[in-house]
Amino acid sequence: MSGPIPLRSEEQNHQETDLDKKCQQIFHLNSINSTIIIRQLPSQGLSFQLWPAAATLVTLLDRCRAGHPDTSSLSALLEAHQHRRLRILELGSGTGVVGIAAAALLRASVTVTDLPHVLSNMRYNIDANAGILGHCGGDVNSEPLSWGDIGEMETIGRDYDIILASDVVYHDHLYEPLIQTLKFFLLGSEKEMIFFMAHLKRWKKESVFFKKANKFFDVKVVYTESPCDGARVGVKVYVFVKKGSGKLESHVNNINSNLP
Ligand SMILES: C[S@@+](CC[C@H](N)C(=O)[O-])C[C@H]1O[C@@H](n2cnc3c(N)ncnc32)[C@H](O)[C@@H]1O
Repeated sequence: MSGPIPLRSEEQNHQETDLDKKCQQIFHLNSINSTIIIRQLPSQGLSFQLWPAAATLVTLLDRCRAGHPDTSSLSALLEAHQHRRLRILELGSGTGVVGIAAAALLRASVTVTDLPHVLSNMRYNIDANAGILGHCGGDVNSEPLSWGDIGEMETIGRDYDIILASDVVYHDHLYEPLIQTLKFFLLGSEKEMIFFMAHLKRWKKESVFFKKANKFFDVKVVYTESPCDGARVGVKVYVFVKKGSGKLESHVNNINSNLP
């Protein structure tokens, strides 16, 4: 799997190592001239690292906030929900960077989620960026959500406008629980939630996930990044909506964002 490689298994040493201490990442959000700082703990496993698709999603939201013309259809999808403060749910948030950036950029109320053992680092990052969140008028809270866990999903509820995720399609045993989770949120209420997923294709088997997803959702690529670091493909951002809702046709027809 390309991208960050876990140096040790998640069960091993949970002490912060020298490498961990060097692994803070700074994201500058140009549209609001603000910076967020994210702590990674590579020694603790893949959930504690930043993945390429996360950076892409942050960049896309930043360009959207800046009113960049090639994100105008994306803005239209977001603006369709501007009747109230935007409520966003993030799945498999890892370090929490996407949710934190989304809250700051969109002045949104964001719930970041992941497996229970991942939450403490996510909470550390939320606290570390409390200043910028307060300044921008966004807020972030964290909840445990293991995909497919009905009890946890019901606790979180469906009162969201948008769901975000980056780099969540990788192990094939996770495809079905992730689809079940998307069905719960996107098909389980009258509300028309939109799921934005940033994904870097690594293996052919991932087509299985998209075939499964296509049975229940209309899925469209809204952004394709140029490949970097000698990779064959770049990160793509997909939009998923309830199948047959017509929402993609009305808002997303002209998106083709081949940003530099
Ligand atoms: C490759 S990492 C991506 C992390 C982050 N979204 C990013 O792009 O930097 C995949 C994330 O999915 C989470 N994940 C894996 N299996 C999960 C499950 N069954 N339920 C919830 N989250 C899960 C992992 O803990 C991890 O944070």
